[in-house]
Amino acid sequence: MSQRTLVLLKPDAVRRGLIGEIVGRIERKANWTISALELRTLDRATLEQHYAEHVGREFYEPLMGFMASGPVVALVVEGERVIEGVRALAGPTDPIAAAPGSIRGDFGTITRENLIHASDSEESAQREIKIFFPGLA
Ligand code: PPS
Repeated sequence: MSQRTLVLLKPDAVRRGLIGEIVGRIERKANWTISALELRTLDRATLEQHYAEHVGREFYEPLMGFMASGPVVALVVEGERVIEGVRALAGPTDPIAAAPGSIRGDFGTITRENLIHASDSEESAQREIKIFFPGLA
């Protein structure tokens, strides 16, 4: 089943020069297509919308501060089971727990600076794509 997902290369990925490496891993998956891509610095209002479900969690403010600390690359990726697939490429939230071969396993340092965000369900993908690329929704 073809799906769309919203991917963010977080400020650490951009700062460390890993855009090409991470986008390349996505592009190398057969039958996936990048249908939108933009480098941008996120303002507080956009981040509040994007992370609304995490308000009140202990990591909320550190996450918001980090995500505003530099530009991110936002992408929409389309293809067969792409929601599950990009999250598998990323690896788990904690880079220490992430297997070698995954993006976080290969490049991750600490949980906050874990390089990539990817929608976790079709509902999240729809909601997040609307925030970043309203023209596509
Ligand atoms: S949960 O409980 O499953 O919803 O949480 P999880 O998916 O693991 O994390 C949600 C997002 O919060 C980020 N996160 C953190 N940021 C900064 N500091 C700490 N300690 C921290 N812990 C979790 C995590 O990277 C997720 O961000 P996104 O952008 O969704 O990947």
